[in-house]
Amino acid sequence: MINSKSLTFIFLFLAITVRISIFGSDKFKIGFSQCTTEDLWRETMHREMLIELAFYPNMALEIKDAQNDNTLQINQIKQFLNQGIDLLIVSPNESAPLTPIVEEVYNQGIPVIVIDRKIMSNAYSAFIGADNYKIGQEAGRYAARLLKGKGDIFEITGLSGSSPAIERHNGFSDVLSAYPEIRIVESEAGNWNAAQARIQMAKAIETLDFDLIYAHNDVMAKGAYLTAKERNLEKKYYFLGIDGLSGQEGGIQYVMDKILNATFLYPTGGKEALNIAQQILHKLPYKKENLLETVVIDSTNAKVVKLQTEQVVSLQGKIESQKNVLDVQISKYQSQKILLIIVLTMLFANVILVVLVFRAFRNKIKANVILENQKQEIEKQNVEIISQRDKLIEVSNKLEEATQAKLRFFTNISHEFRTPLTLISGPLEDLIKSEEVSVKHKRQFALMHKNTLRLLKLINQLMDFRKLENEKMQLEAGNYDIVSFVKEVQEAFMDLAKKNEINFFFQSEFKECFVWFDWDKLDKVIFNVLSNAFKFTMKGGDIQITLKKSHVPVPINYEEEVILKISDTGKGISREHLPKLFDRFYQVGKSDSITGTGLGLPLSKGFVELHHGKIEVESTVGMGTTFFIHLPLGKKHLTSGEMMDEKVVREGKHETPEGDKTVDLLKEGDGNSNKVTGVENHKQVVLIVEDHKDVRDYIKESLAPMYTIFEAENGRKGLEIIEEENPDLVVSDIMMPEMDGLEMTRILKSDVKTCHIPVILLTARSSVEQRIEGLEEGADSYIPKPFNSKHLQVRVKKLLELRRTLHEKYRGTESFDEDDARISHLDKKFLKKLSAHIEANLDKEEFSVEELGSLLGLSRVHLYRKIKKLTGMSVSEYIRLIKLRMALPLLKTSGKSVSEIAYEVGFSSPSYFTKCFKEQFGVSPSKFS
Ligand code: FRU
Repeated sequence: MINSKSLTFIFLFLAITVRISIFGSDKFKIGFSQCTTEDLWRETMHREMLIELAFYPNMALEIKDAQNDNTLQINQIKQFLNQGIDLLIVSPNESAPLTPIVEEVYNQGIPVIVIDRKIMSNAYSAFIGADNYKIGQEAGRYAARLLKGKGDIFEITGLSGSSPAIERHNGFSDVLSAYPEIRIVESEAGNWNAAQARIQMAKAIETLDFDLIYAHNDVMAKGAYLTAKERNLEKKYYFLGIDGLSGQEGGIQYVMDKILNATFLYPTGGKEALNIAQQILHKLPYKKENLLETVVIDSTNAKVVKLQTEQVVSLQGKIESQKNVLDVQISKYQSQKILLIIVLTMLFANVILVVLVFRAFRNKIKANVILENQKQEIEKQNVEIISQRDKLIEVSNKLEEATQAKLRFFTNISHEFRTPLTLISGPLEDLIKSEEVSVKHKRQFALMHKNTLRLLKLINQLMDFRKLENEKMQLEAGNYDIVSFVKEVQEAFMDLAKKNEINFFFQSEFKECFVWFDWDKLDKVIFNVLSNAFKFTMKGGDIQITLKKSHVPVPINYEEEVILKISDTGKGISREHLPKLFDRFYQVGKSDSITGTGLGLPLSKGFVELHHGKIEVESTVGMGTTFFIHLPLGKKHLTSGEMMDEKVVREGKHETPEGDKTVDLLKEGDGNSNKVTGVENHKQVVLIVEDHKDVRDYIKESLAPMYTIFEAENGRKGLEIIEEENPDLVVSDIMMPEMDGLEMTRILKSDVKTCHIPVILLTARSSVEQRIEGLEEGADSYIPKPFNSKHLQVRVKKLLELRRTLHEKYRGTESFDEDDARISHLDKKFLKKLSAHIEANLDKEEFSVEELGSLLGLSRVHLYRKIKKLTGMSVSEYIRLIKLRMALPLLKTSGKSVSEIAYEVGFSSPSYFTKCFKEQFGVSPSKFS
């Protein structure tokens, strides 16, 4: 891959290459300190220098103008020093003041070229300039010739401290000293400029007489000429100047214009200065003193010189334009060169990039190949894993199937245990209660009974557990008062509490609270939890049940719940076991207060969860354990399938399998509560319909002391006996040959002659469907097998009592209640019809039972039986009751007399009416209104 290192390298390379190509190596820096730039002569010097510079591209020239000021010039030279120069060219304004700074530069090792004007020392590398003394001499000689050996001269000098002024004067006066008749009448400083020269000239004209003006340069000479001309004296004097420059304002032109008589060529030395600088900087041999030649220019040669100089100037112009062209070309070349370098560099970079990309690509391909191999390897492994997984699934499915088959087998076997166990348990109970058995044997029987019940309990738990696991367990919730429910459970444990000297309390925030719950299942849950609590709570310990309501923090389909709390002061459960307490088959260590099969608590959890509630536990070893059972309030959380029909829920229809009731039978009170007695003097008749002879005998044995028993081995025979014997109650098995219990019940309950007879269905299969089916057929109660005789006795007794309470009700002032769930629909219909017929026939004194029977489609015997069983009254008693009841509203509101009413409701004598009324309702009719 192209890494950041490679890219950094490429860009560094590019930057360096471009920088080198654009700026190249550094040029020599030449500083030129010029005394002034205000005149043509200096301009000419600069022009010459620049033309020459074009030939030395490695040199750069900077000119600083000192403006005729010594101090400024010194400072500018210092600036050059600070800037850093390779060579100094200096034309000192005045010699003495500039000498020290020039020496300083020179002494620093920087080459110094002195040009035109001199310093007062040898501390310089080279001097370039014309020989001013010689020029002065030439001028002297020319003046002498003009004056023909006789005359007066007025001299206008340059700046007095500058070397040309001194030397031009000296050369001039030295030559003229040889001419006794030529005098320099006055020598005044014109300071190299025309204005000053004119002042001096004007003064001289006024005060002096002279014939020739010798000015140290052409500028001052022309100034003097113009001053003379202003006075028309220009013809009076000869004018001599120095410099001999070309151009309109140059000395050559002045000569040609007859302003000057002559001028002396004073070359600038610009070209030569750069030439020598080049030699010095390149360490080439050079001459220190470079004196430039001079020549006199007057009317005789001015034209020629002019032509020559013009030629030089035009040549210079050409050179300059060539130079410009060259400059353009060079700059083009430079930019093209830069472009080329950039392009080449980019190309180079591209090549590197391509190489890097290629390498990266190659590496990628290599990596891809490795990845591909790894992928294939992984895929291979995956295939292997999948096949191993499939094998495992297969094996585990087989195992599961085998386990299920075993469990099924086990469950079936267990199921088969229930009937024999019931048959062991029942007689054992009877033996325990028997007067004839010794106390010692009773104890042994009790132990046997206890263990039988334990076995039954285990089997029940196992069956329940299977159902829960197979999700076949259905909630059968009814709307019950949970306070009564808990009280009933508490009641069952009271004796045990007493025996173990345990303080057993129940506290409730409320007197009653209707909760939708499954009586059987919740009963099992509480029994389980309480049994454990009792098992592990020591003498003097506490077990407390509390009930309270609470709002749920996050309401979903219920806002409130009831919390059933069962706490004990037992051993407690260690922290490690707590989270797993509700796991199936989890068995807590012996030191903890939970033992057993490990089914009880998971089952309890399953049951509570079926209620959409939850069970939680808190425990501290040595302190005790508390279980919290949360049950939702209301029924919004329940499906219709989870709620039982109202008629199923009615009092007395919930049953508890005996196996769960492990409370010691021996200690269950004095035995009176178990004694079933007939409520009437004569024995009531119970029909037992059961195909299993042993079971039939067992039932018969348990009921025979209290009831007259009839037996039938199937439903069909049962119906025959019912028809003949008109029993008070039927106990029937469900699964039977020929006609099963359900069918028999259906027929019985749909016949008005028999529909009042209570039916208790027994079944070994405690499936919900069957139970519901049984109840739908009109069965009044339902007892799951296994059952014990006591349970059956209680149930039979209760149902018969229920009949009795109904009889009492029938005797009251009110007619039967439409909503009374205890009366079947058919009976209600029958009773209504009965009342209607009686009312319709009030006036008939001879309205016979036969007549009434035929109106109702019943024989006299059947009518009698029906009314007797249903109301506990004879037909005539019942007819009388109906009549008396009809009198009630009349007594209250009609304002009629008792006699009138008596006749109106079909009584032949008012006194008999009063007697019967008093007997029936306990109050005389006169007082009733
Ligand atoms: C120009 C100039 C010339 C003269 C020279 C002397 O500045 O005055 O006219 O010849 O300087 O240094």
